[in-house]
Amino acid sequence: MAEEKGRVCVTGGTGFLGSWIIKRLLEDGYSVNTTVRADPAERKRDLSFLTNLPNASERLQFFNADLSNPESFSTAIEGCVGIFHTASPIDFAVSEPEEVVTKRTVDGALGILKACVHSKTVKRVIYTSSGSAVSFTGKDKQVLDESDWSDVDLFRTVKPFGWSYGVSKTLAEKAVLQFGEQHGLDVVTLVLPFIVGRFICPKLPDSIEKALVLVLGTNFEPYSTHHISFIFLCLLIEIDLNNFEI
Ligand SMILES: NC(=O)c1ccc[n+]([C@@H]2O[C@H](COP(=O)([O-])OP(=O)(O)OC[C@H]3O[C@@H](n4cnc5c(N)ncnc54)[C@H](OP(=O)(O)O)[C@@H]3O)[C@@H](O)[C@H]2O)c1
Repeated sequence: MAEEKGRVCVTGGTGFLGSWIIKRLLEDGYSVNTTVRADPAERKRDLSFLTNLPNASERLQFFNADLSNPESFSTAIEGCVGIFHTASPIDFAVSEPEEVVTKRTVDGALGILKACVHSKTVKRVIYTSSGSAVSFTGKDKQVLDESDWSDVDLFRTVKPFGWSYGVSKTLAEKAVLQFGEQHGLDVVTLVLPFIVGRFICPKLPDSIEKALVLVLGTNFEPYSTHHISFIFLCLLIEIDLNNFEI
């Protein structure tokens, strides 16, 4: 198997971002190891949206891994030159205790970074953080930079919509940056805003569902009409409505 550009690991390959990243990496000539967690109902997962991607049959491999078992990612990372760590519990409804979600997010990320160091082949780690890790400061600041972090205690006290996700992303980003510095690992964190657009995964991504709240009539509290109008405009431009499976 030709691996001219090297092999890259993408965690959370079934997700909105993960699946796009896999598609682009395959198009760009990389080989990809992606991690997928087992279906909770133990059904066989339909991964045809990934296996049917151009070049997938020659260059895409699947591995089972779960953030609840941080060591489970090591086989997928072995021999890779880089990693996109996108897998994350996204539980806006706070159906699990915050400490559980945070521990899974932080320990999972650190397990992945340890496997990267151990591999001796990984040159760079890209971690998808979130605007929620910087925006909930409690201060009236219009421009935020690397020195700004969301206030975890404030999250836990005020409990705004999606607060436990915000706590988990804030603490995970801090942890991965600190680990990178301590171990000389090149860790890049992307502070992503709300993402909308076309998707290639079969499940309607959470962020798109939230953006389409006015269209779908689903119950969702936090965004202003102004914000939603802007997102809706983006969707009109970007989304292929035939792609819907709700
Ligand atoms: N989309 C946005 O607007 C947005 C904004 C800011 C930041 N982000 C960040 O971008 C990344 C990707 O987001 P997304 O929108 O692509 O989310 P997504 O579509 O919900 O994908 C999340 C992925 O994480 C996997 N995952 C969840 N819990 C896991 C666990 N315990 N072990 C292993 N894998 C697990 C999911 O697997 P299953 O298929 O098994 O559920 C799925 O593949 C996340 O880190 C998120 O925090 C996204």
